Amino acid sequence: MAIFKNHAALPTVFFYVSATLFSLFIASPDSYFNDMSPVPAPTVAPYDGGQWILLHKSIGVSAMHMQLLKNNKVILFDRTDMGPSNATYPPGAVQCRNYTVRNRTVTDCTPHSLLYDVASDTFLPLVVKSDTWCSSGAVDPNGTLVQTGGYGTGIQAIRTFTPCDDDTCQWVELGVKLLAQRWYATNQILPDGRVIVVGGRRAFNYEFYPKADDKSSKLYTMRFLWETTDFYEENNLYPFLHLLPDGNLFVFANNRSILFDYNNNTVVKAFPVMRGGVKRSYPATGSSVMLPLKMNGVLDGSGQPEVEILICGGSYGGAYYKSNRENVYIGASASCCRIKLSDPNPNWVMEEMPLPRVMGDMLLLPNGDVLILNGAANGTAGWEDAINPVLHPVLYKTYEPDPSRRFVILNPTTIPRMYHSSCLLLPDGRILVGGSNPHQMYNFRRAFPTELSLEAYIPPYLSPSSALLRPTIISIEAEGGNIVSYGQEFSVNFGLSVYRPGVAITVALVSPSFTTHSLAMNQRVVVLEVASQKRLSVFDYKITARGPPSTTVAPPGYYMIFIVHAGVPGQALWVKVQ
Ligand SMILES: *[C@@H]1O[C@H](CO)[C@@H](O)[C@H](O)[C@H]1NC(C)=O
Ligand SMILES: *[C@@H]1O[C@H](CO)[C@@H](O)[C@H](O)[C@H]1NC(C)=O
Ligand SMILES: *[C@@H]1O[C@H](CO)[C@@H](O)[C@H](O)[C@H]1NC(C)=O
Ligand SMILES: *[C@@H]1O[C@H](CO)[C@@H](O)[C@H](O)[C@H]1NC(C)=O
Ligand SMILES: *[C@@H]1O[C@H](CO)[C@@H](O)[C@H](O)[C@H]1NC(C)=O
Ligand SMILES: *[C@@H]1O[C@H](CO)[C@@H](O)[C@H](O)[C@H]1NC(C)=O
Ligand SMILES: *[C@@H]1O[C@H](CO)[C@@H](O)[C@H](O)[C@H]1NC(C)=O
Repeated sequence: MAIFKNHAALPTVFFYVSATLFSLFIASPDSYFNDMSPVPAPTVAPYDGGQWILLHKSIGVSAMHMQLLKNNKVILFDRTDMGPSNATYPPGAVQCRNYTVRNRTVTDCTPHSLLYDVASDTFLPLVVKSDTWCSSGAVDPNGTLVQTGGYGTGIQAIRTFTPCDDDTCQWVELGVKLLAQRWYATNQILPDGRVIVVGGRRAFNYEFYPKADDKSSKLYTMRFLWETTDFYEENNLYPFLHLLPDGNLFVFANNRSILFDYNNNTVVKAFPVMRGGVKRSYPATGSSVMLPLKMNGVLDGSGQPEVEILICGGSYGGAYYKSNRENVYIGASASCCRIKLSDPNPNWVMEEMPLPRVMGDMLLLPNGDVLILNGAANGTAGWEDAINPVLHPVLYKTYEPDPSRRFVILNPTTIPRMYHSSCLLLPDGRILVGGSNPHQMYNFRRAFPTELSLEAYIPPYLSPSSALLRPTIISIEAEGGNIVSYGQEFSVNFGLSVYRPGVAITVALVSPSFTTHSLAMNQRVVVLEVASQKRLSVFDYKITARGPPSTTVAPPGYYMIFIVHAGVPGQALWVKVQ
């Protein structure tokens, strides 16, 4: 296995940043460090629509699923039942698997999973045995990826991957299996550290991992999943799950959503049906985020933050049938719907994206904005079922009060990311983007050939014009150096070149998501309550924040901690919330 390196990417940016900083230091330091002086307007360069960087033309595996781990490595994988990938094992460490397709035995000696090291921009092959095709995952409180389901040999599999520092860790296939077959299910980490696994094709039920006690060892019927299944198209796979601060789950499938008490298997409340004929779940595939939980914002009577859900894109009922059976590609939806669950009578508020999109990924950024990227303008998810890639990401400015100014079109990539692509937020604020394979096998000849490339999108907040506003974490004063305890204060020391007066500095916990099929499972941003902040010296500041109030606001586990100033996040460090 060749280890590829690419140093052309980030250092270029860092060079500009350092050069800008340097010239400003030389210019007139005092005016920049006085709290009261106005900050010069940043020069708006084309760069402010962000920038795309091709990290690797080919990593050999199409990144259908991705998860960032607490040691800044990204585990990514494809499926294992469609012949060889373009990656290779190192000589002497080749692993072969035999499997049967249509009564034919296939021997495959290529890796279908890689471990990507963010800092060095290199990758190593991993061995995944059972079939991970359209599977799901969550990271447990110890930082271990718990990864479930798939197809064929993997449809009931439970696999784990525990990150380690010496690159010797491997996938582990557990002896314990899922109780139901799960292809296109969704996982959510729970307040007690268990994982709930919900749905999948013809799986109108849910279950838990680990199966430590009687209640966790049962299969629970979930009628809502059956009720939301459309004839032929389904349109309710990979249901959207968000763990709410009140301990219930928000579950969305097709055009309906409920507040669900998974402990008692009861629907607490049904939210209004989303109007307009758009279906949001696979294969109609829109995406969903729970907007940041703000412990520094409005809290309800029980001290819980307001909760809002934002769902964008998807396709109209009938679109999958049309593309699949008739090669007619219906235009995707441009609508987003936002609902405040804490309202006494919550209802969906519709907004229009500047571009229609199906199979768009929605990623929460550390500053609370939402990045919408990847996907297509016509058709649906599925093999050969979409055309017209949408190359421009769109930024949704969550806190922009004027709805007409909420969406910003960003700079385009050149690489279509259609069905089976993925992306995630990195601790340095960049977005890692990979995959796209709308074909049954690896196919480099058809339209939208299998993508083996890996790109980084550099959002506008990392542009050189924001360099002076970017905080740099120097140290965290917490138990053990990185333990954030529930309800307990801890401090972060950070450096900042220019403090913009009157602008809030926020402390955001961001969970690493498991991303596949346009859904970033377990994605969560918790903006912590700030107890105090002070300036220690010209460049140095200390902010004291309070750990999340409860395990329902932030389930235990590893989070990236970002300091955000004037909408500009610095590089995150990892903390363990417990
Ligand atoms: C992958 O491998 C195939 C077969 O060796 C080759 O034809 C194709 O060009 C490779 N694709 C990429 C993107 O490297
Ligand atoms: C796969 O099949 C080949 C040929 O049938 C056999 O030689 C080989 O031992 C098998 N490999 C494994 C890992 O089962
Ligand atoms: C596979 O083999 C079985 C038994 O030999 C046969 O009944 C079946 O039709 C075969 N399936 C295919 C797809 O060839
Ligand atoms: C996490 O690690 C602790 C200490 O090693 C262990 O006791 C616990 O069982 C682990 N939890 C999980 C969910 O694996
Ligand atoms: C739901 O289940 C929880 C935990 O099992 C229990 O404590 C609670 O009383 C139940 N609530 C209702 C409304 O049944
Ligand atoms: C929601 O989806 C169902 C099932 O496909 C459909 O019958 C219903 O008309 C849709 N409701 C609205 C308001 O679009
Ligand atoms: C794509 O969708 C648009 C908007 O509905 C439609 O006008 C166009 O004809 C579609 N393109 C194709 C090739 O079907």
